[in-house]
Amino acid sequence: MKQDDLLGDGNGFVQVVPKEVFPRMRDPFMLELQSLLGGLHRGRTMYFDASYREVRTLLDGSRVILRRLVQEDREKLSVGFTRLSLQSRYLRFLSPKQRLSERELRFLTDVDGIHHFGIVAVRCQLDGTEGEGLGVGRFVRSPDEPAVAEPAITVVDAVQGHGLGRLLCCRITAAAVERGISTFSCWFLQENRRIKRVLLLLFPRIQFELKGNLVNAQIDLSSFVEPDWVR
Ligand SMILES: CC(C)(COP(=O)(O)OP(=O)(O)OC[C@H]1O[C@@H](n2cnc3c(N)ncnc32)[C@H](O)[C@@H]1OP(=O)(O)O)[C@@H](O)C(=O)NCCC(=O)NCCS
Repeated sequence: MKQDDLLGDGNGFVQVVPKEVFPRMRDPFMLELQSLLGGLHRGRTMYFDASYREVRTLLDGSRVILRRLVQEDREKLSVGFTRLSLQSRYLRFLSPKQRLSERELRFLTDVDGIHHFGIVAVRCQLDGTEGEGLGVGRFVRSPDEPAVAEPAITVVDAVQGHGLGRLLCCRITAAAVERGISTFSCWFLQENRRIKRVLLLLFPRIQFELKGNLVNAQIDLSSFVEPDWVR
């Protein structure tokens, strides 16, 4: 993976992490091996593997399917983006964004399940099949610090406030821990009070640092206890 692929086009679609934070990819094979051996050492295979799938009911009674993000989700992501308000796009990408470029879409679906991992939420139709995309949670491992990753969560406006953001945050956290990640590091706009509340709910000891109009959160994943309501 090239550094540019990891960072996107610099328009902040991963978040505005300074480029020097992602200098050069360490040997991806060694990182993968390390992570896999970690899982085997603990005597279990991964829960969030390719077969992961769960159906959940949101607060409004609608049902969603959660599963791993795959490269074939490109179209779903592209359509999902058009269902985000300008404000949600701004909060997610930290810049006004009219559309996702081909390059961005390629990056956003270029998941290997270890260093770049994602879970998508899609509507569960009456017959149990997949409907439209409703949200996505992901993390990208820092090439320089393999135990650190940057998370990002997006939920389409129509279903915001129904518990999906919290659920996705719980699931990507559990998947990150499973892959040997101990810290989430992320940036969000100071005005983004909702993501702050979601993070505070899941990580009560979280520390925030204000830099200009951006907030940096360093999240110790060892403090994560899955709340009853997401089990
Ligand atoms: C931030 C974001 C991901 C949160 O997702 P969400 O689905 O709206 O969040 P949730 O529904 O899980 O939680 C938020 C609200 O739902 C309600 N809620 C969720 N779960 C609940 C539960 N089990 N019981 C009661 N209320 C609940 C709460 O009232 C909460 O309200 P609050 O905002 O006043 O605290 C979403 O708003 C979003 O995509 N925003 C734009 C992009 C963005 O900012 N991403 C974050 C930076 S990467």
